[in-house]
Amino acid sequence: MYSTEKTEEWFSVYVDSFRVDGALENMQELKRKHSWRVCGIACAIAESLEWNEPRDRWLAHAIGLLHDTARFEQYRDYKTFADAASFDHGDRGAEILAREFDWEDVEDGDREKLLAAVRFHNKIEIPPKTPLAQYRWCALARDADKIDVFRMVQSRIDNGTIYDMLPRHKKVTGLSPALVEEVRATGRGSYKNARSLQDYRLIQLTWGLDLNFPVSAATLREEGIFARIAEDLEKYEIKDLTGEIIKKIYNM
Ligand SMILES: [Fe+2]
Repeated sequence: MYSTEKTEEWFSVYVDSFRVDGALENMQELKRKHSWRVCGIACAIAESLEWNEPRDRWLAHAIGLLHDTARFEQYRDYKTFADAASFDHGDRGAEILAREFDWEDVEDGDREKLLAAVRFHNKIEIPPKTPLAQYRWCALARDADKIDVFRMVQSRIDNGTIYDMLPRHKKVTGLSPALVEEVRATGRGSYKNARSLQDYRLIQLTWGLDLNFPVSAATLREEGIFARIAEDLEKYEIKDLTGEIIKKIYNM
């Protein structure tokens, strides 16, 4: 099963099992496309890091493509992507894959790397006790996922479809003081303090601090993604804070 083609086939068959009358729900379709893009990004990062062993290439590809496996049943059963209102989609994804993926010929160590990367891609941080051999794969999943979300949010802001993705953030404009305080104090922001698009943007900017590979931050920097967030938040008078975060991202 160290075959990217077979992995793609497995993923397609798995996703197809959620089709009703040939179609996925819109939100599931978004996740399907996101999975393919994250797959490409994970492969590109791995290549730039010269993780060139055939099994490593396969792992990067599989981790990117499969990281959101649980999203399809999450949406079918709960009509939401909010883990707090349903289940932890990293944990669930690892469970589904452990049970249903075709592991034939895959070495135990590689299986554990893939499952750890899926399990931990959505956690606040990679658990510090994660074995070193698994750690970089968790880091890869998290960076590739974040890069795609950064790009997607930016392009949706540019083409005016951002509120299709964040319908609940439409009602309020401006930054929540509680969130700004939280980010100032901890360098992180929690969704419970986020009500507006601007709140979401500030939280997103802090994700930049959580990128693991310099190539990830460099790629987004080149695309002007961080600068655009700072620009969009300019009128809310937290220029010192956004400036400080961006400086930290660039210096990492
Ligand atoms: Fe995810």
